[in-house]
Amino acid sequence: MKKLSVTLLASLSTLWCLAQVSIIPEPLKLTQGSGTFSLHDQVQLVAVSADELQSARYFSDYLKKHYNLSIQIVEKVGTDPAILFSVVEKETPSVTGEYELTIDTKLIVLNGFNPQGLFYAVQSLIQLIPAKGHWKLEIPAIYIYDKPAFSYRGMHFDVVRHIFPVEYIKKFIDYLALHKMNYFHWHLTDDQGWRIESAKYPKLNTIGAYREATIIGMFPGTGVDSTRYGGFYTVKELREVVDYAKARYITVIPEADIPAHCMAAISAYPQLSTAPDTLRRPASTWGIFNRQNNVLSPNKYTFKFLEDIFDELCDIFHDSPYIHFGADEASTMWWKESAESQEFMKQNNMTDEGEIQDYLVRLVVNTINNKGKIAVGWDEITRDPKLSGDVVVMNWRGQRGGNEAANKGYKVIMTPSRYSYLNSSQRPDEELVLPRRVTTLDTVYLFNPVPKALSPQAAENIIGGQGCMWTEYYPTISKVEYALFPRLSAIAENYWSGQGRKDLTKFKQKLSKQFDLYDLWGANYCNYVVDIGDVKRLLSTPNYLPSKSY
Ligand code: ACM
Repeated sequence: MKKLSVTLLASLSTLWCLAQVSIIPEPLKLTQGSGTFSLHDQVQLVAVSADELQSARYFSDYLKKHYNLSIQIVEKVGTDPAILFSVVEKETPSVTGEYELTIDTKLIVLNGFNPQGLFYAVQSLIQLIPAKGHWKLEIPAIYIYDKPAFSYRGMHFDVVRHIFPVEYIKKFIDYLALHKMNYFHWHLTDDQGWRIESAKYPKLNTIGAYREATIIGMFPGTGVDSTRYGGFYTVKELREVVDYAKARYITVIPEADIPAHCMAAISAYPQLSTAPDTLRRPASTWGIFNRQNNVLSPNKYTFKFLEDIFDELCDIFHDSPYIHFGADEASTMWWKESAESQEFMKQNNMTDEGEIQDYLVRLVVNTINNKGKIAVGWDEITRDPKLSGDVVVMNWRGQRGGNEAANKGYKVIMTPSRYSYLNSSQRPDEELVLPRRVTTLDTVYLFNPVPKALSPQAAENIIGGQGCMWTEYYPTISKVEYALFPRLSAIAENYWSGQGRKDLTKFKQKLSKQFDLYDLWGANYCNYVVDIGDVKRLLSTPNYLPSKSY
């Protein structure tokens, strides 16, 4: 009887331990051991090379920040307990980000098969530390072998419709690091403002960075307020963000959106406009496709402007292999109405205004490629059959566009708005932020970026994907985070773990620990996890009260 209850207790404690383990995104292989490693201020962190020190410092900063625990970094193991940080090259080429994490009762070994891998081993270790009630930090014994399914895993952030301070941009980047994401797509220009300091075109900052008012309510709105709004990031700040991201193995991809979405640029330099005599200001409203003229005119001033601006961008973001030039939603009606544009078409034997878009896109792709970088554009660029060069497509208009681009041989970063845009409601009883659009956690999670029907060659061309955070209706950090979480965690699993490892039920079980982590990180989040059936049910119960508000 006694023996039986001891066995029962032992298996209960194993179960308790098993229940503890929750890592998002889901690792490739995970085997639980027995016992726990106690984390306290006598534990030594051992790191030698610069890459090892980078990950060890990140870990010790994390412990200090979130647990007020100071742990020494040393070069040699003295006595255990210790945590070893090491980058170990494999004989065979390893996938960027591949790692192994072994936790025993006295020793933790983090083996990165490259520097990124070591950093991701740290991220998994972080998730194994209790996130709440942490008077005793016991980490379960475990072995993990892990690597990413996709090489591109990212998040986009629009800082034009609403601008956020550099300190918050850094926090946003930290969230990406914690989810093993490696690209931050920074949407820096649009109709409502130009947020990049420019030495060559200073009016982009004095005029183009500020709108005089902002729409009230959901588009088309009930009017505008009377508050001047805006700002821009200095080159020093932009570089500071690049360096901060780099220390977390994240590449910053800046986006300057052309040839449409250019009202802010046109306000500063009317020579860029198809109607230069019309007085303009950066837009005070959203969604102005074909309502207000926001396209660049195909003239010499514009060509020089584009070369200069993208040269500047390539210099500021010299670490990034990618520069994004937008190219979405250019309404051809402004080129139809403009004598200058019509003359340009005649001289260049063009019969369709879309060819002006193609011309401007090719010019910018060349400028970016000449700087040794890859040009990224939204999927409208694929309309041009003659587009060549190093170009990557983001298919915001639907998965099919991405598949078609992949079939044509383009590299594709999956961004279909239905599954990737997080500026939509997560539950039907929220104020809808994109009219009629509810994007539940399940919808995001169940998205398969590489459908079986694709040929192996086309499937290879899908290099990964990202979530997009547009901020028209998200003026505050708390609202932004409510929209991000937990859907960002689902996106992380889509692109790090991939279809083979995904399991919606398990993912939802892991969310309770993830919510504790969000609390620890000081992030707001939507704690209501619905599935599609719930959405239908809740739609018929309009008085349902959200349990956590934004
Ligand atoms: C987009 O949402 N227009 C890229």
